[in-house]
Amino acid sequence: MPESLTKLTYQTFQQGKNYFGLAHKILSSQLRNLVYPTLQQKTKPIPNELLVKLQQRLNQLLETDWQDAQKGVYPESLLFDNPWQDFFSYYPLVWLDSPQIWERLKQQNYQDFSPEIDTDGYPSYYVQNFHHQSNGYLSDLSANLYDLQVEILFGGAADAMRRRILAPLKQGLKAFDSFTPKQVRILDVACGTGRTLKLIRAALPQASLFGTDLSPAYLRKANELLSQIPGELPQLLQGNAEELPYVDNYFHAVTSVFLFHELPASVRQTVIEQCFRVTKPGGVFIICDSIQLSDSPELEYMMDSFPETFHEPYYKHYTTDNLVERLQRVGFENIEIQDHFMSKYFIAHKPA
Ligand SMILES: C[S@@+](CC[C@H](N)C(=O)[O-])C[C@H]1O[C@@H](n2cnc3c(N)ncnc32)[C@H](O)[C@@H]1O
Repeated sequence: MPESLTKLTYQTFQQGKNYFGLAHKILSSQLRNLVYPTLQQKTKPIPNELLVKLQQRLNQLLETDWQDAQKGVYPESLLFDNPWQDFFSYYPLVWLDSPQIWERLKQQNYQDFSPEIDTDGYPSYYVQNFHHQSNGYLSDLSANLYDLQVEILFGGAADAMRRRILAPLKQGLKAFDSFTPKQVRILDVACGTGRTLKLIRAALPQASLFGTDLSPAYLRKANELLSQIPGELPQLLQGNAEELPYVDNYFHAVTSVFLFHELPASVRQTVIEQCFRVTKPGGVFIICDSIQLSDSPELEYMMDSFPETFHEPYYKHYTTDNLVERLQRVGFENIEIQDHFMSKYFIAHKPA
């Protein structure tokens, strides 16, 4: 297919996902307001000028995504990777789960877990219905619906934002040119359902990949996704990022996507310390998380409404938290910042 046609197909594909996300959000809030009119006053419409800015930021993200594929950071096919089977199997369940979400929202019930869910042994900050999800991160249904919910939230741009870690990751790994591709070890902290590991696998087919997360259900889902890819299976381990279950100086690179806004401030610091500990001298640590107020003040409206609409108890503090200072405090240096659409990236280096 000629390059211009592939690009047009990609843009149309993404625009389709964006419209789908928008349509879902509109329909869902109309239905919710019908069933629970009292919740209506709490949601304010997004101002038009902000919608224009968001569209510009989204277009910029997609252009960068396209350009990185053209530069060979990852194969072009990754731009079209979409969990279709999950979409058709689980989209109806997103709707079926909605009334329970609205009820919890109405009751302001944020720690609602079914009796069969074992919440013992998890940190209390974690035993929450993040995003009002039924059973938080602790059920198989939650793991099956998670990627769809994130896609709807970001208008189909979640993977495009995750892919922004790949160029700095490959750049950071150049410090280890003397290692064979197989000897390179990469850890994804809070790997969730494995989307980031899947993207890393496509960009670095031979690297040894590792993922850790607190949720057994999400790890099961990650295993299901990653075991379909030919080549070596990433090693998945259940663990708390506050005590990473790996020896010191083990990984050439460590990544973490959409974790830090879900941690209390002191835990953010502990996790950063742990990531420093397990990174090899000369290695790179990349965080991808939400935008922050300091560099995206024009999106303050989004940052204010996000934790209201979705249950995100630590998000507000996150938006003003100085992560650069936290990274420097444990010893990271040469910290580069990037912003893409709704995400911010911290690319930090452990001194050689
Ligand atoms: C918003 S999800 C992000 C998942 C994935 N990285 C992604 O890109 O979609 C947050 C993830 O962090 C995990 N998590 C939260 N606190 C954790 C902790 N202290 N240690 C390990 N994982 C944690 C959750 O189980 C969940 O899978």
